[in-house]
Amino acid sequence: MTKLITISDNFDAFNPTQETEFDKILSRRGFLKGTASFGASAFVIATGLPTGSALASTRSGLTFKPVSANSRDTITVPEGFNVQVVFRWGDPLHSDAPEFDHATLGSAETQVLAVGDNNDGMDIFTVDGRTVLVLNNEFTNIEIMFGNRQTKSPESDDDVNKGKAAHGLTVVELKEDSEGWRIVKDSAFNRRITPDTECSAVGSAAGSELLKTTQDPSGKKILGTFNNCGNGKTPWGTYLACEENVNGYFSSNLGANFKQNVQEKRYGIAKNGKDWGYKWAQTDTRFDVSIEPHEPNRHGWVLEVDPTGQHIPKKLTALGRFKHENAELVIAANGHVVVYLGDDERGEFLYRFVSRDKYYSDKENTELLHEGELFAAKFHDDGTGEWISLKEAGMKDDESLIFARLAATKVGATTMDRPEWVAVNPFKTEAYVSLTNNKYRGEKASQPLNMANPRKKNPYGHILRWTPQNKDHAARMFTWDIFVLAGNPTIHANLMGGSANVNANNMFNSPDGLRFDSQGNLWIQTDGNYSNEEEFAGMGNNQMLMGNPETGEIHRFLVGPKECEITGITWSPDNKTMFVGIQHPGQKGGSHWPEGGKATARSAIIAIKRNDGRIMG
Ligand code: FEO
Ligand code: CA
Ligand code: CA
Repeated sequence: MTKLITISDNFDAFNPTQETEFDKILSRRGFLKGTASFGASAFVIATGLPTGSALASTRSGLTFKPVSANSRDTITVPEGFNVQVVFRWGDPLHSDAPEFDHATLGSAETQVLAVGDNNDGMDIFTVDGRTVLVLNNEFTNIEIMFGNRQTKSPESDDDVNKGKAAHGLTVVELKEDSEGWRIVKDSAFNRRITPDTECSAVGSAAGSELLKTTQDPSGKKILGTFNNCGNGKTPWGTYLACEENVNGYFSSNLGANFKQNVQEKRYGIAKNGKDWGYKWAQTDTRFDVSIEPHEPNRHGWVLEVDPTGQHIPKKLTALGRFKHENAELVIAANGHVVVYLGDDERGEFLYRFVSRDKYYSDKENTELLHEGELFAAKFHDDGTGEWISLKEAGMKDDESLIFARLAATKVGATTMDRPEWVAVNPFKTEAYVSLTNNKYRGEKASQPLNMANPRKKNPYGHILRWTPQNKDHAARMFTWDIFVLAGNPTIHANLMGGSANVNANNMFNSPDGLRFDSQGNLWIQTDGNYSNEEEFAGMGNNQMLMGNPETGEIHRFLVGPKECEITGITWSPDNKTMFVGIQHPGQKGGSHWPEGGKATARSAIIAIKRNDGRIMG
């Protein structure tokens, strides 16, 4: 079936020449097929792609009948697959810790012995034959965590410390038996890494004056990690936890009289002197920026974690400080380690780290992320792009890392529609980034429409991909195109209807989590509008889809419970189980998943298997 999409209506920022170029970018892979007719203020895209196939199948033989969108308070997966809840927020890691108490919702003491809240990025490691999951616990929904308080917010010091202890990471050994996957209680691997765990800083900004505080005159001993969003994994067996919205935890005792400096403003630190309701400064003065102005500089990094617990976590200053989403690592053709990094804020940038030294499989590589060069992406409207070194900003080395956002602006990088996860295709030299949405696109002068971010206010988001020059992820130049423009084709007959690989049966909004499986399937997780109304009618709850990088086909595999986002994905060592994260179900009070009845909704990790036991990607 061929449909015509006219995109002149809300696409008035480009002149006809640019429109022609934009058509080329969208059509390069044939996911949007352009016609030859371009009007003075309009162009037409004819689409005829993958709208109809009933079964999604992959080279690994993972075949499924896509599921429909829905707004139910449950997990929906295709026929032939089964789902098990492995563990939830507050489940104990040790046998002497109590089970989660729905009346008290736990205490600071019980929380530190239990799984943290709002699971996000995760990965599995095999250590001495044991299966160890490392998991980010990004944040807490205050109204859920303190739902038993009159004010629905932390009141006592214990409340504050409980909320704090629910942040950070959970490291837990898992085992599968006839009942399914479960926590191995009391495993030596089980531990929490919290905002109070000792970490170190490494790389060229470590020891900077800007990182020194009263507690740490060395600028190299940083206490804790929090707001860990997406993740990464290194070939030398470590886990990368990415610190994102760290600004939300700092306040000032000056209240509304607190005036942000330029850097604090750019990073959103203690806006109007307030935090986001966590009240950590109540029990820990380092979160009061008027007492410890450098403490915010010590957060917003990528943290390298040893799953075995033998080494303390390291903040990798060479990878820059911003609102990190994930850290997608690949060994480039020239032997250097490349890490792709998104900065999730409207109008912020996409980054790339290139290690100074090369990776050798038979050598010690554990310090490869300590030294290297950080770049920000510039997307040209002709479908090419380049990585620009932050050294070109002319700032001091430590400042260009601690305030990487300012350096990237100076070098003229392209403002993006909220870069979330990056995923590298294991079978082809190309990478994908989710640009989740951006209500400021085309509205703020600093965020004009451009070919890489082509829609005003971008309510649905898109996934962009790039191919490095010479098949080398360390090369300066690349070409790029748009893999999918999410949209709603049932109500829009223009660019808001999405690209040709979006149809009434697979539509979604706000792509976020992105990861390839071992077979080269691209898994897309959403964190978007789940109202199922108006612009988002027919999309239902947040979901997970599988994309085919070759054909552009996208099929819905999973729908989450009410008010959740789907985030975090990894596989068991035998690839027969896929683990998926369900974050903040019921964030507006409308879910009781997974326990049902009147239970408090809890974030959880689920295990998905095929009924026939074959591999899951
Ligand atoms: Fe933590 Fe950008 O999502
Ligand atoms: Ca995310
Ligand atoms: Ca998101």
